Amino acid sequence: MNLTDSQLILAPMEGVLDHLMRELLTSLNPFDLCITEFIRVVDSLLPERVFHRLSPELMQGGQTSSGVPIRIQLLGQDSNWLAENAVRAIELGSNGIDLNFGCPAKTVNKNKGGAILLKSPETIYHIVNNVKNSLERSQIVSVKIRLGFENTTLFNEIVDAVVQANANLLTIHARTKSQGYRPPAYWDLIGQLPYHNKIDIVANGEIWSLADAKNCVAQAKTTHLMLGRGVLALPNLASVIKHDVAPMNWATLCILFKRYCELEQRGSKSFYFSSRLKQWLRYLKIQYPQAEQLFTVIKTLKDKEDIMSEIDVIH
Ligand SMILES: Cc1cc2nc3c(=O)[nH]c(=O)nc-3n(C[C@H](O)[C@H](O)[C@H](O)COP(=O)(O)O)c2cc1C
Repeated sequence: MNLTDSQLILAPMEGVLDHLMRELLTSLNPFDLCITEFIRVVDSLLPERVFHRLSPELMQGGQTSSGVPIRIQLLGQDSNWLAENAVRAIELGSNGIDLNFGCPAKTVNKNKGGAILLKSPETIYHIVNNVKNSLERSQIVSVKIRLGFENTTLFNEIVDAVVQANANLLTIHARTKSQGYRPPAYWDLIGQLPYHNKIDIVANGEIWSLADAKNCVAQAKTTHLMLGRGVLALPNLASVIKHDVAPMNWATLCILFKRYCELEQRGSKSFYFSSRLKQWLRYLKIQYPQAEQLFTVIKTLKDKEDIMSEIDVIH
């Protein structure tokens, strides 16, 4: 199976896939698009600084230094405020708008945003329709959903709502909210949808390798894929999938890891430098046994120089 024509999207991951990580991962991979972490919209038009903080790429033409476009993701339940903030995000340089209907976080769901809306396809329709109508026709509105909240009973209805509301692209994380992040992902349910000729569909969930990508494409019947944890665990995963290159080896990863340390140190969250490195190592441990060793050694360290020299030792 040839995946060279696949569209690959870097997933939104709140607290993990921030602009520094996007910078790094888009420099290594042939991503077509990045979706930002979500901006929560409640009952106001958010100030520009909120958009810029989340996506400094907006100040450099709405793309990463490697030229990969950035799309702002909004999460909320009020279609008017979502539409107003969508207009603002576009004015600031976002390449279209992504709407989040998949977030399982309790606080978000309590306020009727994220995955809870999967219980109400009608509300999803109103939100998508309102956002779409508030923007110029050429602006892409993409939507991210799961298969359902507790079960998949409403799955077709939800997708139908998104299609009827004229969204341009639909990403499906192939699990219900109740299934959380427990494997497997049910890619075959995406494949069974009768909407593949009505909207571009992106499959998402549990793609960790080229073999997973091939399986997913075969079952979901789409070559558009979104990658999240998989690319944090294997930082050149999109290249592996699209160009069949070898997975990055540990020595190269160590050089990359040091580059990330430098980016983090310069970044606005440099205060959290060591905890962010440890966070990434938790994903890297999935693919690299050496990452486990490095994690154990730096677990208690905070100082940049100490951490860097341990990377040299394990390298
Ligand atoms: C820590 C974390 C944060 C996430 N934040 C977001 C988010 O802000 N918006 C969103 O739509 N999905 C979010 N997701 C879901 C991912 O985008 C993706 O759908 C999910 O991880 C499954 O894909 P994967 O198996 O490739 O990781 C998050 C997932 C994780 C693990």
